[in-house]
Amino acid sequence: MNSVLQVKNLSVAFGFDKNGKPRDGMTPLQVTDRVSFDIHEGEFFALVGESGCGKSVTAMSILRLLPQPSAQIIEGSVNYCPTENAASIDLVKLPLAELQKVRGSEIACIFQEPMQALNPVVTIKKQLLEVFKFCKHSKGGFMSVIREQLVLAGFKDVDRVLNSYPHELSGGMLQRVCIVMALLSKPRLIIADEPTTALDVTVQAQVLAVLKDMAGRTGTAVLLITHNMGIVSQYADRVAVMYAGRIVETGGVRDVIDNPMHPYTQGLLAAIPENHSDMRTMKSIPGSVPHPRDFVKGCRFADRCEKCANASAELREKCMSAQVPPKQKASGSLNHEANCFLI
Ligand SMILES: Nc1ncnc2c1ncn2[C@@H]1O[C@H](COP(=O)(O)OP(=O)(O)OP(=O)(O)O)[C@@H](O)[C@H]1O
Ligand code: SF4
Ligand SMILES: [Mg+2]
Repeated sequence: MNSVLQVKNLSVAFGFDKNGKPRDGMTPLQVTDRVSFDIHEGEFFALVGESGCGKSVTAMSILRLLPQPSAQIIEGSVNYCPTENAASIDLVKLPLAELQKVRGSEIACIFQEPMQALNPVVTIKKQLLEVFKFCKHSKGGFMSVIREQLVLAGFKDVDRVLNSYPHELSGGMLQRVCIVMALLSKPRLIIADEPTTALDVTVQAQVLAVLKDMAGRTGTAVLLITHNMGIVSQYADRVAVMYAGRIVETGGVRDVIDNPMHPYTQGLLAAIPENHSDMRTMKSIPGSVPHPRDFVKGCRFADRCEKCANASAELREKCMSAQVPPKQKASGSLNHEANCFLI
C-alpha cells in the first residue's frame, strides 16, 4: 500500500535561540529520539503513549508547528506524498511558503480544544466558508457542500448550527464542526491530537465515529494521537506505541492487541478498564514517564519494567546498558515489530 506520510528518524530538541544555537549556552533538551513510522493512504493510524511521551511534539513537527525558535528538528525527515504515485517531498526541508500550501489544505489538524480552534466572535457558517478561500479544490456550491458534510457529521438542525457562534454549541458539537472544517479541503491526511480528551465521555465515541466515518468516505488518512488503548483497539487500523521519546512497538492493531511484544504495550493493555469485569484484576504501570533530562541511552522503560526486574542479572545489565535494544519482528509478521531484548 502507498504511504501518504513517512516519518523517518525524527528527533526534536528544545532550547535553541533565533540563530539556531543553544540558548544561553545550555545543552538543548532532546525530547524525541529517531521516531519512525509510515501512514498508508486512507488508513486510521494511532500514536499512543502516556502523558509526556512526545506524541504532540511528534505530531506538531510534521507540519513544523513547534514553538520557534526554541524547538528544532535536529535529525530526520517527514516525507509527504502529495498524490498517488507522485514523488514525495520532505516537509522538514520544504521552504515555508511551500509548506503553507500543505498546511490545512493537504494535511489538516484537529486539536484537543475545539473552542480554542474556532473564532468565538464569528458564526460557524462564516468560519466554514472561510476554508474555501484556501482550498485548491474549490469550485463553487460551497453552501451545499457544507450542509451535506454537517448532515454526515450527525447534525439534524443544520441551520441552527450554521447561524450559531461557538459558545452556543456543546464541546462535542464543536469538535464535529472542526472535523467538517478539516475535511472541507479534502486533505490527504488529518492529524487529530487527543480530539476527545476535553469532551464528556458520553460524546467521545460519537465524535470518533464521525471522524472515522467521514475520513473513510473521502479516503483521508488519520493520525490519531491518544493515550487510550481502548480507543486504539476500537478505531485504528495500525498503531505505533511511544515511550519516553521513542517508538517501542508498531504493527497492525489486531497483532499488537492480541500479541503485544513490548512490556510497555503489555502494561498499557493491562490497564484498559473495559478489559476487566473485576476492577481488582486491573493493573497500572508503576512509576511515571521520565522527564527528557533524565532520559538514558539504554531502554528507558527499564526502571518500570516488571520483566526486567524479574530477569537474570545478565539481561538486567543489557536493559540498562547504553545500547538501544534493536527492533525485532514478530514471528510470521512483516510489519509488527518492537524494541526489547526479550524478543
Ligand atoms: N514548548 C516546550 N518546551 C520545552 N519542552 C517541551 C515543550 N513542549 C513539550 N515539551 C516536552 O517534550 C516532552 C514531550 O511532550 P509532549 O507534549 O509531546 O507529550 P505528549 O505525549 O503529547 O503528552 P500529553 O499526553 O500530556 O499531551 C515533555 O517532556 C514535555 O515537557
Ligand atoms: S528491553 Fe529490558 S527493560 Fe526494556 S522493555 Fe525489554 S525487558 Fe523491559
Ligand atoms: Mg500531547
